[in-house]
Parts: sequence; C-alpha cells; structure tokens
Amino acid sequence: MFRVTVDGERRPARPGQTVAAVLLAAGRVSWRTTRGGRPRGVFCGIGVCHDCLVVVNGLPDVRACRREVEDGDDIRTQNGAELPSAEADRG
Ligand code: FES
Repeated sequence: MFRVTVDGERRPARPGQTVAAVLLAAGRVSWRTTRGGRPRGVFCGIGVCHDCLVVVNGLPDVRACRREVEDGDDIRTQNGAELPSAEADRG
C-alpha cells in the first residue's frame, strides 16, 4: 500500500492506481479550476481532453487519468495555469 497526500490530507493508494482513481476514492469529483474558476475533473478518462490536470510533486499539468501514483506523491488541486515549483525543478 502506498501513502500519498491529496491537498495536504494523507490518503492510501494501491500500486497501479491512477491519480484520478485515488482522487475519486477520496470523494473528489473535481480537482482543477479553469482560469474562469469553473471546476473540472475526469471527462474522457483516456488522456485526450486534459480536463483532469493536477499538480503532482510540484509539477503542474499532470493528467490524473494517465499517471500512476507513486509512494509519497504530493497531489494538489490545480488552479488555472500554474508554473512548476522549485521542488519540481529539482526532481
Ligand atoms: S480525463 Fe481527459 S485527459 Fe484525463
């Protein structure tokens, strides 16, 4: 069993799960907002629409439906367009 953080809250995750699956299991239906503040989550589920973008370990624009979780991932809601954090630059 993996342990990840979703917006600061510790959550369990199974190896092989996508970030989107972990977020849905946490009861989240949206985890990104557009520049206009509208909520977004999974739409296509196959990596095409880019509606499911999240920040993972400081790296924005990660498609939650395509990325498998890794132990210790820090997953955060993405608000509009974000730049990578210094943490992501080191990764
Ligand atoms: S839900 Fe469409 S790219 Fe992830």
